[in-house]
Amino acid sequence: MKQTTLGEARKLFGKPERVVWAVAKYQDNVSICPLGWKMNTSGSPPMMAISVAPPRFTHGLISKSGQCVLAWPGEDLAEATLLCGTKSGRDIDKFKEAKLTPLKGRHVDAPLVKECIANLECVVIGEMRSGDHTIFAIEILQAWVNENPKRVLCTVNDASGYDFLLQQGGYRFGVVKG
Ligand SMILES: Cc1cc2nc3c(=O)[nH]c(=O)nc-3n(C[C@H](O)[C@H](O)[C@H](O)COP(=O)(O)O)c2cc1C
Repeated sequence: MKQTTLGEARKLFGKPERVVWAVAKYQDNVSICPLGWKMNTSGSPPMMAISVAPPRFTHGLISKSGQCVLAWPGEDLAEATLLCGTKSGRDIDKFKEAKLTPLKGRHVDAPLVKECIANLECVVIGEMRSGDHTIFAIEILQAWVNENPKRVLCTVNDASGYDFLLQQGGYRFGVVKG
């Protein structure tokens, strides 16, 4: 073993990672925040944790509304991911700029994203500061899947049939073949 920086070590074990969008709404404000940092934390009830930095506009929307949608983009949404992940909902309407379609969910006010492969309606159960990010513990109330995902990949061992978007580091993306 040789000593190295955490940044170098993370290149080996931290990437690529699947990207998810946290979509949040509070009053008239809506935003989409692509996230690499998230994990499953409970099966029953189904729960996840997402890590969002306080300066993000979406952070305040999640914190104040106590809700969010996790929307899972496919390969066709790499450009939209870059746009939503480099601009703030304080300045632009991300649904409009990225040509995305909001859909009404059943349990939360935050919209689902029609173009995504799957959407999860979530409520915040707890939050804790973790250095320069906040970990939101969220419970999933309802799952939705797209019956007509734009990118469907048919392979011999096709499990899900979908290509999910991966962040390879920086702004390079790849896909997980279903
Ligand atoms: C691929 C990718 C992954 C990202 N992962 C995270 C993350 O895990 N946590 C976070 O707080 N920001 C993350 N970001 C940055 C936010 O998505 C970005 O700052 C976004 O513009 C915030 O938008 P908002 O101000 O409308 O909330 C990521 C960005 C990209 C492109």
